[in-house]
Amino acid sequence: MGKKWQGDRKREYYYKKAKSEDYRSRASFKLKQINKKFRLIKQGDAVCDLGAAPGGWMQMAAEIVGEAGVVVGVDLEEIEPFPEENIIAIQGDMTLPETIAAVKSQSVEFDAVISDASPDISGAWDVDHYNSMTLSKSALNTALELLREGGNFIVKVFQGDMTKELFTEVKRSFQFAKIAKPDASRRQSSEVYIVGKGLLKTPVRYGDKLTVTVVEQGRDGDGVAYHEGFKIIVEEGRVGETAAVKIKKVTHKLAFAVKV
Ligand SMILES: C[S@@+](CC[C@H](N)C(=O)[O-])C[C@H]1O[C@@H](n2cnc3c(N)ncnc32)[C@H](O)[C@@H]1O
Repeated sequence: MGKKWQGDRKREYYYKKAKSEDYRSRASFKLKQINKKFRLIKQGDAVCDLGAAPGGWMQMAAEIVGEAGVVVGVDLEEIEPFPEENIIAIQGDMTLPETIAAVKSQSVEFDAVISDASPDISGAWDVDHYNSMTLSKSALNTALELLREGGNFIVKVFQGDMTKELFTEVKRSFQFAKIAKPDASRRQSSEVYIVGKGLLKTPVRYGDKLTVTVVEQGRDGDGVAYHEGFKIIVEEGRVGETAAVKIKKVTHKLAFAVKV
């Protein structure tokens, strides 16, 4: 069985499923599958969807958040309005500040920012990768602006040279980051989704290099240091020792570091 044939069959399967279940696009199932695995959107959440037309992700997100939640979708194209008052469609360029200002005016703080935005495909791989990365980076910046602390993020990227850089940025900004390839995404398509869970608003981030002084002895023989009042567990640190460290993991309350 050829890969292309399998891919076409999958596309056909999800297309029919979307039609029969009344979703505006087969992409709805990608969001459903990502959310089933990572639990990024939950009941009552406020969700912002960037690059949302025709609205398949908005429908799926609305189903998850229920009546107590809100979904705000943005697209260059007009999104056919939804009858529900808590599903709001905005027409605009997601990379422009005036569009983000329109989103901000709808809800105070968002629990999740999701983006399935794609540029017009030219067929020239490097141009498409570059244009897609521009949109994905813009989605990340918007997420950092709109999300509450602990909020979650999903963004589509077309894999290429610049994917790793964006993944590292997501890894630095969220407690947890992973790359997802849902079943509803064809295997031969280069699209993957970067998932960020638990937005951090901490003074230290994954990968930071700092010089700290160990001031307490922690459990398991590790040392405890502070940076701008933020607790850092230093592997094998001894009280009184000043050391150059690299941050390996960050949670909302503390970070873990190794000496370098
Ligand atoms: C794959 S579609 C999204 C499908 C959607 N998730 C769904 O389930 O219906 C990608 C969308 O990104 C939008 N897009 C591309 N560039 C954009 C931009 N600068 N601002 C807003 N939307 C953009 C396109 O207009 C297109 O509708």
